[in-house]
Amino acid sequence: MDLIKLDQDYILNTYKRLPIEIVKAKGSYLYDQMGNKYLDMFAGIAVSSLGHLHPKVIQAMKKQMKKNLHLSNYFVSEPLVDLAKGLVSKSFASKVFFTNSGTEAIEASIKLARKYGKTISPNKFKIITLSESFHGRTMGGLTLTAQPKYQESFLPLLPGITYVERNNIKELRKAMNRDVCAIFIEMIQGESGIQVLSREYIDELIKLSKEFKVLIVADEIQTGLLRTGKLFAYEHTNLIPDVLTLAKSLGGGLPLGAMLVSKSLEDILKAGDHGTTFGGNPLAAASGLATFTILSSAIMIQEVQAKSDYLFEKLNSLKNRYKIIKEIRGKGLMIGIEVGEFADKIKNEALAKKVLLNVTNQTVIRLLPPLNMTYKDLDIFLNIFESIFISINTNKNG
Ligand SMILES: Cc1ncc(COP(=O)(O)O)c(C=O)c1O
Repeated sequence: MDLIKLDQDYILNTYKRLPIEIVKAKGSYLYDQMGNKYLDMFAGIAVSSLGHLHPKVIQAMKKQMKKNLHLSNYFVSEPLVDLAKGLVSKSFASKVFFTNSGTEAIEASIKLARKYGKTISPNKFKIITLSESFHGRTMGGLTLTAQPKYQESFLPLLPGITYVERNNIKELRKAMNRDVCAIFIEMIQGESGIQVLSREYIDELIKLSKEFKVLIVADEIQTGLLRTGKLFAYEHTNLIPDVLTLAKSLGGGLPLGAMLVSKSLEDILKAGDHGTTFGGNPLAAASGLATFTILSSAIMIQEVQAKSDYLFEKLNSLKNRYKIIKEIRGKGLMIGIEVGEFADKIKNEALAKKVLLNVTNQTVIRLLPPLNMTYKDLDIFLNIFESIFISINTNKNG
């Protein structure tokens, strides 16, 4: 049975699958059917923050599976309440709405922002997003995603959305006015190659949003839950968001997203205004709660910061030695390595050497390793990574 061929025969071809079949996943490693072991440097695109099959997460899931798998949002759910309580206690937020995915957390935020706008004026429905942003694939999320390559085939999009250039304060000032209800930002843009918002830009954004009563929606679907070395990426700045979206690692490997809202927005959405069948599923919540408990612990936060310092130091040293590396960007364990035309070659060579790398925006190696990856495994990655630069250099010069 050739699973890769069957996949091509029966599943819509919307992904560029890797040419390997994974039969087992444990910690920071994936195993294929030939017995090969691969070091996972992108953790399911920032989902598996505790690596694969973390024992505490599995234990929490097993416990929940004995109680129920789905009851519907007509019933209260203990793991969901505990997870919401945890998120609220560690953030600016006072309440949470749970979804299945990131893009649905964005949809919920668009609806919240529009309804908030209407409480002030019927014209206050405009939304601003930044160039090269990524906010999801549903029509609302796609409209906010300021990248023509994702949008072109699906026009027309949602009306009332303005795009401004990332980190361009002049453009931001021009776009902000009383008709804007919200601006959606990623503190660090993930999909477009780990692009960090500048401090000056964020400070101006804080000022303008107060002046024009514009909600700041921090899309932390990728940056959230310790990925950047703080539990939330906004903690690196002076910004306190009005709304924050989470997904990816929130469910500890199961589909779970969330919209966190500040106290003043708690009553905007009323019963019946918004909903979802599966959002906040008890099994995903149990897995998410076990994951969050570990990710939000002081020791884990310290550990990630130390590993980040270690990795950045080693990568910067590589950059000094290999001209192919143009820039290293990011924070925590969300790192972009700009390598121009060599990105795919590096990814393929790494795969041959049993290291899984992710390329985003064509020229950037995006590192999103499990946050609990050991130093030994980080060193294995660094050695293999350097060996690839050595071989590219030799081939270029030889
Ligand atoms: C910043 C950001 N927002 C939204 C999304 C969409 O999330 P999902 O794929 O869960 O719908 C992603 C996914 O990559 C993301 O990185």
